[in-house]
Amino acid sequence: MQTAVITGAAQGLGLVTARLFAANGYRVVLTDVQPLDHVLDQFAGQDASALSGDVSSEAFVSELAAHLAALGGADVLVNNAGISMIQPAEETTLEQWNRMMAINLAGPFLLCRELGKQMLAKGSGAIVNVASVAGLGGVIHRSAYNTSKHGLIGLTRTLAAEWGGRGVRVNAVCPGWIKTEMDVKDMGSGAYTDSDIVNRVPMARFARPEDVAAAILFLARDGQFVNGVALPVDGGWDADSSWDALRLKTR
Ligand SMILES: NC(=O)c1ccc[n+]([C@@H]2O[C@H](COP(=O)([O-])OP(=O)(O)OC[C@H]3O[C@@H](n4cnc5c(N)ncnc54)[C@H](O)[C@@H]3O)[C@@H](O)[C@H]2O)c1
Repeated sequence: MQTAVITGAAQGLGLVTARLFAANGYRVVLTDVQPLDHVLDQFAGQDASALSGDVSSEAFVSELAAHLAALGGADVLVNNAGISMIQPAEETTLEQWNRMMAINLAGPFLLCRELGKQMLAKGSGAIVNVASVAGLGGVIHRSAYNTSKHGLIGLTRTLAAEWGGRGVRVNAVCPGWIKTEMDVKDMGSGAYTDSDIVNRVPMARFARPEDVAAAILFLARDGQFVNGVALPVDGGWDADSSWDALRLKTR
């Protein structure tokens, strides 16, 4: 049985991804900065365990790695935990910037390093980093968030090159806007509306957590030759440089 670690698994995309991996026969290890007891209850009868902590804490990542070592080491790591922030660049404080980089970039790095060591020792494993379309292009008022996601794609490509020869593949998914708690909070700030997003997407809808989880599972599966990609799961957002009025004429 393969063991998959999913960070940020208390809600949103992480929880849907953990459910999909469990349904596909993986042993799942859930982590989140929030308590997970009530979440673990939803995995009754499946091989699941949970450990709460902050992914940007080196001590927590060591504790998680020890938990995984006792289970025979990680086979799959999904670096999904993350935070967002909408703020003009000129009003972004160093403290906000550093917090973003700690959670969205240093955390995934620490997890790749510690669980990657276990995979390298086995000579096999797959890491999927959850970046964003915000890691592929600029989006106004998201300087810290977008930089963290661009960085995560850079880390993905570098580790894919560094570890591919030793059996460990590293890929990223780049979701478009998904209606999770993160999106509800961001939208609550008045920064954008449903129709802003729907009008921008060639496939005319938000991404669903299930769309993204399916792509994560595909990239994580054994025996793949896909390594180092940043796969958009965005209904065509990244491919489309049209202006809105032109796109809307096609509907
Ligand atoms: N929602 C979107 O539109 C969207 C689009 C593209 C990419 N993403 C990315 O998808 C991932 C999941 O986001 P979501 O939409 O499910 O958001 P969410 O806010 O619903 O879930 C994020 C989870 O990460 C956890 N988390 C936050 N900080 C943490 C920390 N320091 N340590 C451990 N866990 C922590 C939260 O507690 C939460 O459970 C994020 O990396 C996000 O950037 C989201």
